[in-house]
Amino acid sequence: MNAMELTQAARQARERARARFSGFRVGSALEAASGAVYTGCNIENATYGLTVCAERVAVWKAVSEGEGQFLRMAVVADTAALTPPCGPCRQILWEFCGNLEIILANLGGQSETIRLAELLPRPFDASFLEK
Ligand code: THU
Repeated sequence: MNAMELTQAARQARERARARFSGFRVGSALEAASGAVYTGCNIENATYGLTVCAERVAVWKAVSEGEGQFLRMAVVADTAALTPPCGPCRQILWEFCGNLEIILANLGGQSETIRLAELLPRPFDASFLEK
């Protein structure tokens, strides 16, 4: 799947967001090395704190289907300044997906591609627990 198709998949996933509290809808699409694509949307909850971001929904779907190698993720929101993954999602993406290529895009067709290592410099991960 090319970058445009992956972005389109994230855009479609965004339509399924359950964002009744914030009104802020996000979609994601995660491409595994196998070629499979796992989408996610943010899912909010009346207790607020149980809300899950679009990025993590895609990661959990992929990991629970047995995927372990990933190529890139597209994230789509309706913001002029392109929406990046939040801090906790950066940590989860690093631990489960490694130094992913991340395509940030909005509904106006603007996009930017960035590596996760640029968003999460000097990460903490399992390698520290082995020392
Ligand atoms: N959100 C995401 O799903 N991904 C992001 O990258 C930023 C924030 C969600 C969480 C919450 O449902 C809403 O957007 C507002 O923070």
